[in-house]
Amino acid sequence: MEQNRGTWSSRFGFLMAAVGSAVGLGNLWKFPYLAGENGGGAFVLVYIVLIVLLGFTLMLAEMTIGRHANSDAYGSYNKIKKGWGFVGGFGVLAGFLILSYYSVVGGWVLKYIVASFTGIGADKSGYFSNFISSPVEPIIYHLIFMGLTAIIVIRGISGGIEKAAKLLMPALFVLLVITVLRSVTLDGAMEGIRYFIMPDFSEITLKVVIAALGQVFFSLSLGMGIMVTYGSYLSKDEDLEKDAFLIPSLDSLVAILAGFALLPAVFAFGFEPGEGPGLMFITLPAVFEEMPLGMLFSGLFFLLVFFAALSSSISLMEVTVAFGIDQFKWSRKASTIFFTTLMFVIGIGASLSMGAWSDFLIPWIDGNSYGIFDFLDVFTSYYLLPAGGLLGALFIGYVWGVPNAVKEIKMGSAFRTEKLWTVLIKFVVPVLVFIILLSTTGLLDKIIG
Ligand code: TRP
Repeated sequence: MEQNRGTWSSRFGFLMAAVGSAVGLGNLWKFPYLAGENGGGAFVLVYIVLIVLLGFTLMLAEMTIGRHANSDAYGSYNKIKKGWGFVGGFGVLAGFLILSYYSVVGGWVLKYIVASFTGIGADKSGYFSNFISSPVEPIIYHLIFMGLTAIIVIRGISGGIEKAAKLLMPALFVLLVITVLRSVTLDGAMEGIRYFIMPDFSEITLKVVIAALGQVFFSLSLGMGIMVTYGSYLSKDEDLEKDAFLIPSLDSLVAILAGFALLPAVFAFGFEPGEGPGLMFITLPAVFEEMPLGMLFSGLFFLLVFFAALSSSISLMEVTVAFGIDQFKWSRKASTIFFTTLMFVIGIGASLSMGAWSDFLIPWIDGNSYGIFDFLDVFTSYYLLPAGGLLGALFIGYVWGVPNAVKEIKMGSAFRTEKLWTVLIKFVVPVLVFIILLSTTGLLDKIIG
């Protein structure tokens, strides 16, 4: 079994694949609109604090578990301690549910590559809401996105995933910087820049903290074992500590750049920062209209967003597929086809919930009711991923034991932040995530109030 799992062909390839997993719609689509909905700078500040406290800590934790056990997310936990496979099982479920709606948004991006050339028109928010609420077209794009993800995953680890990521992540970065430059130099951009970087401390509410926590997990691909799975393909001399620093740093850099690409333009054009999921799709075309060769840039930009989304969806699918391969002994192809079909079907529901099925609401323990798309998002980002992260931290701190994890980390390099990491993983991460999880469900209100 071990020999057909595959390994990374180079350290750079691994890094690009890990960054490729982390950098995706979460950074480019979700981060700017969450910031816009949650007080701008207030959200950004809380986000950065949580990245520093939790992001690095859990990234290192997951990679260490994976490299030590050398198996998929479920198998890795189970191998280290019998009966703990369920933590990885959580992750398989989370990845499965996330990709179901992620692929729908991936489909929107595909549509916008085409629409950049065929024309979006003056009423950009009307164009967007008409498109996502229509019954057939978004589902066709969702199918294409899902199919492309499946094809790359079938080709296996270094064949597909690595090659694509190595090429496309740097290209995305360059185009993003160009877009930022245009956005921040628009007339009236200053107000947006201020909104994005100046935290208004009175805006830091529990809601903002919850949103930022969910986003940390989502954006860094944490809490569901993808970094366990990717870590399992790493060799013993890899410097895990350095990787766990580099990946979250690059990921956050891209998110911040995306914020600078969108929010100044929101203010310059008089759009609403709290626009929600449509923010990128409505604002970007307006920015590009202000540039020479705007259509071309717009098409190119959405193309790179699409590739970033694809390198993330690959990683989401890889967790589920690796589970099928390692646990059921399925072939890679059979596992991929099986899970892709299921996710496609769930995604149809997510897409329809934007239009025809918008009245179908799922009541949830926080007292709200959600459509299918929102439910998948809320349930995974605010519950499953943080719960997975919490269990992962407890697993290292109290089941496997920090000294064992430290020994694994030290196989590849010195471990400069050993003491700090020990405190964070044993105490800070569990307590912080636990409190936020409780407050998300509304339980905290009941306990305190
Ligand atoms: N991090 C990716 C993004 O920002 C999405 C993603 C890929 C993800 N793999 C994940 C999220 C695993 C949570 C868990 O778009």
